[in-house]
Amino acid sequence: SGLPRFNNHPVVDFTLEAERNAFPKSIAKVRAAAGGRVPLFINGQEVVTDDTLDSYNPADPTEIIGTVCQAGTDEVARAVEAASEAYLAWRDVTPEERAEALLKASRYLQDNIHDLCALQVLEVGKQWDQAHADVGEAIDFLEYYAREMIRLGSPRRMGHAPGEMSHLFYQGKGVAAVIAPWNFPLAISVGMVSAAIVSGCPVVYKPAGPSSCVGGKLVDMWKAAGLPDGVFNFCPGRGSVMGDHLVDHPSVSVIAFTGSMEVGLRIQERAAVVQPGQQQCKRVIAEMGGKNATIIDDDADLDEAVLGVLYAAFGFQGQKCSACSRVIVLDSIYDRFVERLTEAAQSVKLGPAEDPANYMGPVVDKAAQENVLRYVGIAEKEGRVLVKRKAPSEFTSKGGCYVPLTIVENITKDDRLAQEEVFGPVLSVMRAKDMDEALDIANSTRFALTGAIYSRSPKHLERAYREFRVGNLYLNKPSVGALVERHAFGGFKMSGVGSKSGGPDYLLQFLDPRLVCENT
Ligand code: NAD
Ligand code: ALA
Repeated sequence: SGLPRFNNHPVVDFTLEAERNAFPKSIAKVRAAAGGRVPLFINGQEVVTDDTLDSYNPADPTEIIGTVCQAGTDEVARAVEAASEAYLAWRDVTPEERAEALLKASRYLQDNIHDLCALQVLEVGKQWDQAHADVGEAIDFLEYYAREMIRLGSPRRMGHAPGEMSHLFYQGKGVAAVIAPWNFPLAISVGMVSAAIVSGCPVVYKPAGPSSCVGGKLVDMWKAAGLPDGVFNFCPGRGSVMGDHLVDHPSVSVIAFTGSMEVGLRIQERAAVVQPGQQQCKRVIAEMGGKNATIIDDDADLDEAVLGVLYAAFGFQGQKCSACSRVIVLDSIYDRFVERLTEAAQSVKLGPAEDPANYMGPVVDKAAQENVLRYVGIAEKEGRVLVKRKAPSEFTSKGGCYVPLTIVENITKDDRLAQEEVFGPVLSVMRAKDMDEALDIANSTRFALTGAIYSRSPKHLERAYREFRVGNLYLNKPSVGALVERHAFGGFKMSGVGSKSGGPDYLLQFLDPRLVCENT
């Protein structure tokens, strides 16, 4: 293709003064401009609605980041119609040209990286480094899927029989509805949307409510990339008002969803029902939740294991599908590990993400706060709470969405804390008598997303490789922070259906294969 080989965007280097200075400057700039109206974008035009939703800073809910217009069923219908009209032309644009649009979008993100990070710090409470990793991942998706489409874009000769020429090639399936979560507010949205667009599928994109302002940045990004009208449509809206309508629409061919198991299962069920006028079977890609475990073997390097578990459980307040929410510790090392983990958890600073000294901040909104507090109550009933650290009152007094950093022990396999996704900073410690029992506990949930093991034993690492059955397993590494291509990401069981995002099979889900055979 003439493009340089794909490489991941470099992680932020805070030893550089320029990087350290860029963040507060961008935060001040984004803050000064915040609070405005965010319109929909349909068929190349801004669309304003009467219904709006305020997106606020979770550290101080009185700070409004944006007043976001909300699509109702009429706007969804208009957006799907615009995407359908754009489909036939966009489908037949060459793969190289479609890839070029992604590379231009990547350039836009690279040129605006600090402002995009600052918006995440303010809108969802991402720590600086984690915001940078999210924007970096969005850039990676664009660069990787551009190259993938070029790879898949050349027709492939099939067989060698004399007297015929047989070619296999791909075309975009049709209109894609992209429904995104708020926790990786730019990366996951850009990943799903760009995969559809580069495959030749125009998009109706619905961001999650708490990250709609970050979602709105996709409009600027695709404008900079010069997409034709109707290929990208931005439709923020309430799931309860317009979600079903978007999923049910007869002109939608692909639904790319990332979010909770409950909503993912509902979408799969509804998408299976053929609506009047529908011309194609809908494909659903649903990446859902996790209940991820980390096993601590009796010979684990505890310096590594304690920091790894702390980061995987409490980084971004535990609001990652990949977060460690169960740590399974072998009996003989249990007391030593738990003592060190609780000491470490007592030492980290809590407070707004805006201050990089803080390790953990508020959860994303008031609903998330209520949900996590409910699980802290369940932890108190089901186990013995070892750590319950609240943020200092100077921060909580502002009404920020803080929840305590919580570690609970005496949790066993069938407890709710061992089975249900909390999606917050609540870590269950579970005891196992040996590696057999540790693996049995690790595999004992409906989910199969990520997992990790800390061990120095090659035999145990090899066993985990074979028997710790999750989509992404990390040996002597935390279970979070997957990188595009190197750690192609996604799970199975109730963690989702579809192939791995950032992996070599992902685009195929948006494509119909065709074969043409000529008698020569
Ligand atoms: P959510 O399921 O509440 O919402 C996801 C999206 O679905 C939002 O845009 C929401 O508005 C929309 N929605 C709600 N009801 C709908 C309906 N009836 N029809 C259509 N859309 C509807 O999830 P969330 O709180 O935004 O994100 C957290 C969840 O996402 C966690 O469960 C987490 O594990 C999961 N997640 C999974 C992955 C992965 O790759 N497997 C990655 C990130 C997050
Ligand atoms: N890709 C994200 C991670 O691995 C979900 O943490």
